[in-house]
Formats: sequence, structure tokens, C-alpha cells
Amino acid sequence: MQVLRDVPALRAQVQAWRGAGDAIALVPTMGALHAGHIALVQSAQRDGGRVIVTIFVNPAQFNNPSDLAKYPRTEAADFALLQQAGVDAVFAPSADVVYPPGFSTHLRMGAVAKPLEGAARPGHFDGVATVVAKLFGMAQPDRVYFGEKDWQQLQVVRRLSLDLNLPVQIIGCPTLRDADGLAMSSRNIRLGPAARAIAPQLYRIMQDTAAALRAGDDAALDQARAQLLAAGFGPIDYIAACDAGTLLPLTIAAMAQPAAQPARLLAAAWLDGVRLIDNIPL
Ligand code: PAF
Repeated sequence: MQVLRDVPALRAQVQAWRGAGDAIALVPTMGALHAGHIALVQSAQRDGGRVIVTIFVNPAQFNNPSDLAKYPRTEAADFALLQQAGVDAVFAPSADVVYPPGFSTHLRMGAVAKPLEGAARPGHFDGVATVVAKLFGMAQPDRVYFGEKDWQQLQVVRRLSLDLNLPVQIIGCPTLRDADGLAMSSRNIRLGPAARAIAPQLYRIMQDTAAALRAGDDAALDQARAQLLAAGFGPIDYIAACDAGTLLPLTIAAMAQPAAQPARLLAAAWLDGVRLIDNIPL
């Protein structure tokens, strides 16, 4: 496995592989890798070509400095996992490789980035879009893999790539869950034992809420909020039924229309000082 730290080394490797007829698949991550990331790598490997994983904790997407400081950094363990998974290269640049002195271009995302995560974390998706566009420019991949766990991020990246005509295929991969249903996340390791025991209730309550919404229960979202608080979550940033593509809120009546667009239930709630997010189809 090649470990690449700067753009010339990354470009040279990409050019060599492409020259040999290989397609380039990219898996962007912020490290603290878990089985969910390895599932993205495996999807990329199944689709063929060379697989590059990027590890970069992007300061531009953290609107809270203490969240950035607390973000787990486990580079040696990450490299070992990637080596074992048979990744071709890891690109792990420093902040000044990604944002060199004089850097002054920042993307500003529109409507799809405004509700839900965008409202709870102002500027977050502008930072994601900026670094994702940079990673695309630096690695020039043919395909890029994102987890559906960050559903809104996936829609933001699809919009970005469409709007800027970026010549790359965006592939969404299903959320991986622990046996008790908790969506895998790098943040889960910050949950204490008591909170870890409560955490799977987010998914369980979301499944019950999805069933209630499908059955036409207008009070389902209010009940979900009450159940989450009773389980020990709080504050709850949102739990909302939305159009799966635009993330605009949907009413029960709109969801029941015969020609209704796919809908998604999305939630973000705090537990033990850790912010958990999840989403499921409706
Ligand atoms: O999902 C993530 O880990 C990050 O938001 C990403 C896409 C790697 C951009 O920093």
C-alpha cells in the first residue's frame, strides 16, 4: 500500500495507474476507520480498478473548534486496517497541503445544504463541498464512494458534482450497523458504556416512527421526540420526514400521493455529549 502525503506524489501514482489502463476509485474519509469504511473500500474493490482512501480531518467542515479538537485521530491503526483490506494507496495530507498559504476559494452550497445538518451546523456543508471538490481535483478519480449514513452529505456531493459538471461517478453505499442496530460512526467510540447501551434506541425509535408515518400517523414525529428524550437523548437537533433528494420536509399527505418521490426519515440527537445521526427510507 502506497502512503502518499502530497499532491505531486498522488498525481504521479494516479497517472501511472491510469496509463496502465486502471480506473481510479476514491474513498474519502476523516480517519478513525471502522467496518463501515472498510465496506466502502470493498464496494470500490468489487467495482474494479485501483482504490485510494483519503484520510484528512477537514477543519473547514467543523463549525465547533472543540468538536474538531476531539475528533479521533488514529492514523497508525487506520493504515493497518487499510493495508489488511488490500487498498492500493492512502492519501493522508497535512492541512497545509490541502489549504496552502494563500488559499482563498470556498464553495457555498445552496438549498440542499440548508435544512437539518445545515441548520444545526451552519457552514458545515460548504466546508465538505470545498474539500470534496479539492479531493476530486487532486486525485481525479473515476468513481467516489460515500456512505448513506451521511445521507444529506451524499445529496450535497451529488448536487456539487452535477452543478460543477465534475467528471466523476458518485456511488452511495448502505449504512453498516452494529448487531444491535447502532449505525457505525467514528464518534461511537466516545460513548461511555451506559450511553452505548442506550444508543441503539435511536434506530429502533426511527423504525417505529417510519412505520407510524407510513400508516398515516400525524403525531409520529412528536412521539419520536418524546421517546428519544425519555430514553436519555437530548438535545434533539431534528427528526424529520423529508424528500430523499432535496431534503425538503414532507407532510403525511404528500408522502401518500401515488406519484410521491422517495422519502427519508433523518435524525440527529445528542447522547452523553456525542452527536449521533441516522437515516432510513420511508
Ligand atoms: O464523511 C466524511 O468523512 C467527510 O465529511 C468527508 C466526505 C471525508 C469530507 O471531509
